[in-house]
Amino acid sequence: MKVDGIGYRTIWLAKDGWSVEVIDQTRLPHAFAVARLTDLAGAADAIRSMVVRGAPLIGATAAYGLALAMRAAADDGALVEAARTLLATRPTAVNLRWALERMATTLAPLAPSDRAAAAYAEAAAIADEDVAMCRAIGEHGFELIQRAAAGRTPERPVNILTHCNAGWLATVDWGTALAPVYVAVDRGLPVHVWVDETRPRNQGASLTAWELGRHGVPHTVIADNVGGHLMQHGMVDLCLVGTDRTTATGDVCNKIGTYLKALAAFDNGVPFYVAAPSPSIDWRLRDGVREIPIEERSGRELSEITGRTEDGGLVTVTVTPAGSPVGNYAFDVTPARLVTGLITERGVSAATPEGLAALFPDRR
Ligand code: MRU
Repeated sequence: MKVDGIGYRTIWLAKDGWSVEVIDQTRLPHAFAVARLTDLAGAADAIRSMVVRGAPLIGATAAYGLALAMRAAADDGALVEAARTLLATRPTAVNLRWALERMATTLAPLAPSDRAAAAYAEAAAIADEDVAMCRAIGEHGFELIQRAAAGRTPERPVNILTHCNAGWLATVDWGTALAPVYVAVDRGLPVHVWVDETRPRNQGASLTAWELGRHGVPHTVIADNVGGHLMQHGMVDLCLVGTDRTTATGDVCNKIGTYLKALAAFDNGVPFYVAAPSPSIDWRLRDGVREIPIEERSGRELSEITGRTEDGGLVTVTVTPAGSPVGNYAFDVTPARLVTGLITERGVSAATPEGLAALFPDRR
């Protein structure tokens, strides 16, 4: 996607041909900055500290992190240790494990001297395939928006509610949940997006709003608790969210608060779609609530908030009373029964074992 007229992906190989550059998402929306990753520790830290985030981008960064590690040492022990370090950075998005397993499968049979070059090639393939999958999700999701847009005008657009950031910043390009929105807007459909702020880290208010604004997509940022009210008043036509891990039975784990939106959507008859590229499907799991590890992050993400002052400086303030304990659960699980459909790169599937198995017979 373009930033000030220049085409960007969220991760790319630097001009030196070996280091890796990423958009530093901790600086958005106040500054657009590029961070350079030069070694395993840097890549692991970028994932842990959420310089990069979003399930598909976490996977792609881990793949490049392994390539950086192979430059330094590529024997079997180094390969295992690098994969272990990267896997430990964040627990919930299964794309991380998927990417590392794919890298290990490619690299393990090779001689150590061949591993670095092969790792860069495989990481690039993972990144390119992510772009293609998101683009395909954009096409399949577009059809849903197109159906909802029949008879709509710019004054009465299709209202889409999204949670967190599942746009191009969360992937290598295009996004998952927002790809259909970009396709629809590019083709002239009248669309407006309700953007959940997504406390505590505000990925909606800071990242989704930023990227929608850059692309000229009409949107409104709302507090996390507003969605139910909007749905009761017919102001949401469909919900579109991403996923960090979807079970083979269609349970969807995504950013904390997604489940509450799905409940409100169910109660109000609003379709609730999840954009799920296949690397975010965990074919080993059948019960999302019991089996998916939910990340707990630092309480400071909740007790403190950072924003820009009028003079352009950034300031962090504390919003909770001194001494009050805080709990910061980063994800929740929406049971499959609340999910209208899963938009995958192969088409839209029911959130059921049969639906997923029909689209992915190779994974049965
Ligand atoms: O904690 P984050 O910002 O990595 O969480 C991101 C999300 O929950 C996204 O919705 C999910 O990764 C899907 S991204 C296409």
